[in-house]
Amino acid sequence: MEKKKPTVLTFREMKRQGSKITMVTAYDYAMMTQVDKSEIDMILVGDSLAMTMLGYESTVPVNMDTMIIFQQAVARAGRHTFLVGDLPFLSYEVSIEKAVENAGRIMKEGFMDAVKLEGGERMADTVAAIVRAGIPVMGHIGLTPQSASQLGGFTVQGRDTAGAKQIIKDALALERAGAFSVVLEAVPAPVAAIITENISIPTIGIGAGPDCDGQVLVIHDLLGLFERFVPKFVKRYASLGADLQKALNTYAAEVREGSFPAPEHSFSMKEEVVESLRADLKKEGIL
Ligand code: KIV
Repeated sequence: MEKKKPTVLTFREMKRQGSKITMVTAYDYAMMTQVDKSEIDMILVGDSLAMTMLGYESTVPVNMDTMIIFQQAVARAGRHTFLVGDLPFLSYEVSIEKAVENAGRIMKEGFMDAVKLEGGERMADTVAAIVRAGIPVMGHIGLTPQSASQLGGFTVQGRDTAGAKQIIKDALALERAGAFSVVLEAVPAPVAAIITENISIPTIGIGAGPDCDGQVLVIHDLLGLFERFVPKFVKRYASLGADLQKALNTYAAEVREGSFPAPEHSFSMKEEVVESLRADLKKEGIL
């Protein structure tokens, strides 16, 4: 049966019914073709593409124009999956007007169904303005990679009472601002459970324990394609890096030994045409 594209209302209903929301990142057409055929509900064209696709050390360097190129590629294959596009660093913090404008670009040029931005209480007015413009917003709190430098690195957040309270206030502020869901990244499982129980919008966890309404993973981590480091909260469901090595080395070996391309990979020509070609080349002094 063909997968039916979910909406923001589907996710609210899934929370109400206690059925878990599944989400991965996606960055390109080929991978999104596979995700769209799968049972995944929602994807994020995340600014993590700065690291997974472009090789930067953090998500900070990527800009709006680059994000939109990747979002367009994903949108071309994403027909049955809800599509969320990340607002990159400094595309929404400078002013509310700029934030609404850039969120609009993600919808109009990137063909996404919603946008995501990082920050809780401090971003509530911005979230409310984007929502007023008719754009669904997913929040992102806890470990917010765009401000990892300010947070002192990519580390778990909210382990003490004060930190945990702030994350809970952030979640409540996003709910009040009209966000349709919120990502909780690298927060203790009990804090995520308290938030999930006490807000009406779905929580999507990454390193936030099993009680969130849904889970998200970076697709390169899940498939074993990103080897620089593996966060504690990642589970690898495949080893595509190893499979790729095997395929590439088999191809290289077959080319070297002459077993590829085989006759079935080549185009033939009638023998009499080959002979007349050879004769012409000689007669006309071409060879
Ligand atoms: O950019 C990203 O991939 C993200 C996820 C980790 C949620 O923000």
